[in-house]
Amino acid sequence: MKKILVTGGAGYIGSHTVVALHAEGFQPVIVDDFSNSSESVLGGLRAIVGTDVPVHRIDCNDKAAFRQVFEREGDIAGVIHFAAFKAVGESVQKPLAYFRNNVGSLLVLLELMQEFKVWNLVFSSSCTVYGVPDQLPVTEETPTKPASSPYGRTKQMGEDILRDVDQAPGNQFKTVLLRYFNPIGAHPSGLIGELPLGVPQNLVPYITQTAAGIREKLTINGDTYDTPDGTNVRDYLYVGDLAQAHVVAIKRLLTLTWPVVETYNVGTGRGNSVLEVVKAFEKATGQALNYSIGPPRSGDVPAIYADVTRSAEQLGFRTSTSLEDALASAWRWQQNLSNE
Ligand code: UFG
Repeated sequence: MKKILVTGGAGYIGSHTVVALHAEGFQPVIVDDFSNSSESVLGGLRAIVGTDVPVHRIDCNDKAAFRQVFEREGDIAGVIHFAAFKAVGESVQKPLAYFRNNVGSLLVLLELMQEFKVWNLVFSSSCTVYGVPDQLPVTEETPTKPASSPYGRTKQMGEDILRDVDQAPGNQFKTVLLRYFNPIGAHPSGLIGELPLGVPQNLVPYITQTAAGIREKLTINGDTYDTPDGTNVRDYLYVGDLAQAHVVAIKRLLTLTWPVVETYNVGTGRGNSVLEVVKAFEKATGQALNYSIGPPRSGDVPAIYADVTRSAEQLGFRTSTSLEDALASAWRWQQNLSNE
């Protein structure tokens, strides 16, 4: 079984990717400091995959501790690097923490991969690199824009670092940059899912918490954008599909024999407005949602969704889960949480 290190493997996207790797015959090994994830994820993972997933509880910035992971694990076929902070608003409050955690840990990881001659890397990037795009849908060739938050800058810097490493003489890294659009939903078992701390910033956890009665109502952040119904448009993809994209990316890296850095959008190729998501949630779950329209949220991009031609043609990857099914899975997960 090929061993894949999954940094941030106890997190939302990471845990679903651990499941997908295991299902395809890989041996995932989690590296996580649990600073923004819960130990309870490990029980959910065990129940889903039927065995304990190896875990190293370390901070990826702790080079000595991380080196021991490489030493102890031995033959590592590749790394999927999720470990990072991800809240746009928080990054404005704590820029140093974001640069240290997101950029610093990438440098530590790359140095260790070089030291141990592990050359296959999948990096978590984000559609945030496109800023407010001049054309829709965005292809991977759509020019990136200066990021509007420290969080966004850490993702752009991560991409820049990996492209510079690729250009260096004698480089041996093979890297796939995955630019995620908006992942939603949870594993069909309801055993793992998104665990927002405090008041959710993201749309779908806010919706499910409102339906569960934890929040009084959803406030839609503005309805006067230049979009069909005036609310923001995003490309919402099922987290299980996104997890599968990582497996496909690792498989591709294992077949490539030359150093390369490849960039792929991972989305559905469709845009949905906030109001459409609310309606789809109501239809999928039979829950009426209490919501009202509020002011626009500062920094929001009016509309963005992916052109997925490249990931379809080169990776053979397409999402397969509908928006309604993804929202139904998020609701099942919320109900499990609320019943605990
Ligand atoms: N929204 C609401 N009400 C809420 C929460 C969100 O109307 O209570 C709206 C937002 O304004 C936005 C849409 O729902 O129009 C989606 O918002 P999210 O916060 O779920 O997602 P974003 O698209 O804003 O952010 C995501 C990632 C970020 C990343 C960004 C890049 O969460 O990490 O995409 O565009 F930086």
